Amino acid sequence: MKQIAVVGVGYVGLVTAACFADLGNKVIALDIDEGRIARLKRGEMPIYEPGLEELVRRNVHAGRLAFTTSYREALDGTEFAFIAVGTPEGVDGEADLRYVEAAAKTIAETMREPLIVINKSTVPVGTGDWVSNIIRQHQREEVPFSVVSCPEFLREGSAISDFMNPHRVVLGSTDKDAAEKVAQLHLPLRAPIIVTDLRTAEMIKYASNAFLATKISFINEIANICEALGANVEEVAVGMGYDPRIGPLFLKAGLGYGGSCFPKDVKALAHMAKEKGRHPQLLHAVMEINADRRKMVVERVTELLGGSLEGKTIGMLGLAFKPNTDDMRESPAIDIAAGLQEGGATVRAYDPIAMENARAIMPGVNMCSDPYALATDSDALIIVTDWNEFKQLDLERIRGLMREPVVFDGRNIYDPAVMCRLGFRYRSIGRDDTCDCDQPAEEEA
Ligand code: UDX
Repeated sequence: MKQIAVVGVGYVGLVTAACFADLGNKVIALDIDEGRIARLKRGEMPIYEPGLEELVRRNVHAGRLAFTTSYREALDGTEFAFIAVGTPEGVDGEADLRYVEAAAKTIAETMREPLIVINKSTVPVGTGDWVSNIIRQHQREEVPFSVVSCPEFLREGSAISDFMNPHRVVLGSTDKDAAEKVAQLHLPLRAPIIVTDLRTAEMIKYASNAFLATKISFINEIANICEALGANVEEVAVGMGYDPRIGPLFLKAGLGYGGSCFPKDVKALAHMAKEKGRHPQLLHAVMEINADRRKMVVERVTELLGGSLEGKTIGMLGLAFKPNTDDMRESPAIDIAAGLQEGGATVRAYDPIAMENARAIMPGVNMCSDPYALATDSDALIIVTDWNEFKQLDLERIRGLMREPVVFDGRNIYDPAVMCRLGFRYRSIGRDDTCDCDQPAEEEA
């Protein structure tokens, strides 16, 4: 059993704290947000993540996990301090490091015993060295410390199982002893552990996310070409995926990537490259293709409705950037709704859990109580998020409730043949879904 402090109880921090506690360690999780800590002490989660509430409750109850706003309380007797604070996007796409800086300073001012500071936040390459300097400069007395980079690769919605079953653990440090101790903490996870220098570890995180984003933009570009040439992108992806050099994952064409990581990290990597005089042309193409996905939806729906959105009511099924999360950060839904509204449409939406978060950032979008209320008198529905509960809707009933039977399926959750049979004017991503019963919108109007 080790004693661990985790600074920042956002997504990464809270999952890290709860999981290390569950592995038998004593963990004190700290945040400067008093309200958030008070709520956690009452057992209320600040984010939606399947299994997290239960995990936190169990470990608090067992005395292995506690919450505090006091650095003194968190650091006394602690050998490891994880920094897991937010690194929001700065004005030029660079990562904003003010929270990392504040955490490093306060750790330096508070620590009285040797400490290994482990950076989990996604930070620009070189930040580990910068954090070392901050700690050195702000220590009140000289106490030994080391900085280790340990990037997270957690996916929202499956963060706990990703933490407990990582594909790899990456550790970056020039202090081999410190890296070895952090490696020991991760041993129960039985994953390959890669030990490298600080900058390389930081780069592994950016390169991994940029590569995954590239895969997504790649398959979205292929989807566009499939549409033009009459091929089926779903089957193309399956056919490609059997080649182990390509792999089957992250080849799902759709509305592009969103969320708290990919958009921010690709932008930040491009920014870092540009600052050093490099021209990251592939990263720019990845971002451009991603942005175009959102415009494409608005154009396609406009087309399906006969060329104009004026006076139309459009329902969005799903708002979150992906299923099983209430996270609206960089969700395609935001730009799509804005584009539809700009075209003169009234926009309404339903999402199983993201509606509350969405309300604050999507003014003018009416939230509906369920998919059937959403469909009632709508001129078109757009599948934005592939929630499981949308896959088995009573589509016949939906069809009957809608003013016009138009469905744009941004996630390919329905079968074109079935949708055709049910009488929908249905379009999806990267497959030929023209149907015998298709009528031009003008003729139907
Ligand atoms: C991602 C990384 O997977 C994780 O390793 C990293 O630490 C944080 O960023 P997350 O943002 O939770 O995790 O979501 P993920 O499941 O990876 O999906 C990201 C986005 O890509 C979503 O918008 C999703 O809809 C989209 N996506 C994913 C596709 O469009 N197609 C795919 O094939 C896969």
